[in-house]
Amino acid sequence: MQGDGEYNRSSKVQAAGLSPAISLLVNAARAFELPSDAEPIVIADYGSSQGGNSLEPIALAIQVFRQRLGQKRPVAVFHTDLPDNDFSALFRTLAEDPRSYLQNHPNIFPAAVGRSFYEQILPVNSVTLGWSSWAVQWLSQAPRSIPDQVQVAYSRDSATKAAFAAQAASDWRTFLTHRGAELRPGGRLIILTMALDDSGSFGYAPVLDAMYGSLLNMVETGFLAQDEVARMTIPTVGRSRSDFLAPFQASSDGRFAELSVEHLEIFRGEDRIWNQYQKDGDAEKFGAQWAAFSRASAFPTLAADLRGGRTDPRTEEFVSGLEAGTAQKLAMAPAEMVIPLAEMVLRKE
Ligand SMILES: C[S@@+](CC[C@H](N)C(=O)[O-])C[C@H]1O[C@@H](n2cnc3c(N)ncnc32)[C@H](O)[C@@H]1O
Repeated sequence: MQGDGEYNRSSKVQAAGLSPAISLLVNAARAFELPSDAEPIVIADYGSSQGGNSLEPIALAIQVFRQRLGQKRPVAVFHTDLPDNDFSALFRTLAEDPRSYLQNHPNIFPAAVGRSFYEQILPVNSVTLGWSSWAVQWLSQAPRSIPDQVQVAYSRDSATKAAFAAQAASDWRTFLTHRGAELRPGGRLIILTMALDDSGSFGYAPVLDAMYGSLLNMVETGFLAQDEVARMTIPTVGRSRSDFLAPFQASSDGRFAELSVEHLEIFRGEDRIWNQYQKDGDAEKFGAQWAAFSRASAFPTLAADLRGGRTDPRTEEFVSGLEAGTAQKLAMAPAEMVIPLAEMVLRKE
């Protein structure tokens, strides 16, 4: 994700999408069988980025624990992300944002873990409540580059699609295995992630078309080499209902890694940028906001595939040029994005 707090500023699409899952988290906090006085309450936030979108769900979960346990019981909150995440922005957000859960509650102890969630990153049986929004769609790695797009959902190459599907299935099992170890018995994990809708669509077609078209334009102008664009890949996937359920359905008791599925729903997220465009008719703003979303969430990944890698001297120009090109194309033909999402509640038995 883009650093310098930029993800926090350009993630209102994600904020809108995750809001239905917040009530699942609150219900899980209500339903949890309280541990003995000696045990701390532990909330884990998997794939936190800079924390802005974690504030509301975690504050509401803490409020429930406070109602049930009083003000004195210590609550530890672990925000986890990859080592390169902008953890400084996260800690500034926790300290300064008026929505921060630190504002109204004593005895809350936030900490960060800079390790991939494809490993076990917290002690066995330690997590009371897990939360992960807009993160598990990121694969542990791109199994190969995509010859005809940056997003595999719109590739026509069957070998590439099969390689990504296999990676997605394996990563999902790995993610569940480690969360199953970390949750304490009776604990719950709430997941909000990108999905395939019931017609198999990944969505976001206009923004992905605009992005890939802008990359091809950069090759035409000579700014990018053909082999650079060929390498550029966003290693995210949408999973279908049956993809999510596959590990659980493979066992006779419906469990995987001691987890069972309490709730799974695929739904369509709200396109707040489109809704705003419906009110103000400002096509340039529509394009600019979807391009800012793309910049914050995907452009750093694409920029890393420039020939010079993360220190390529064209990085700044590449990112701003791609943002401008994407915005311009979207402004020419504003269209509502289909945003397929999945919300899940998993319980450790
Ligand atoms: C789109 S952001 C979501 C941020 C926030 N949770 C939200 O709902 O807006 C996805 C985050 O997942 C993180 N992420 C991706 N792969 C990860 C991994 N293997 N381990 C931990 N975090 C990962 C990214 O670094 C990024 O910060």
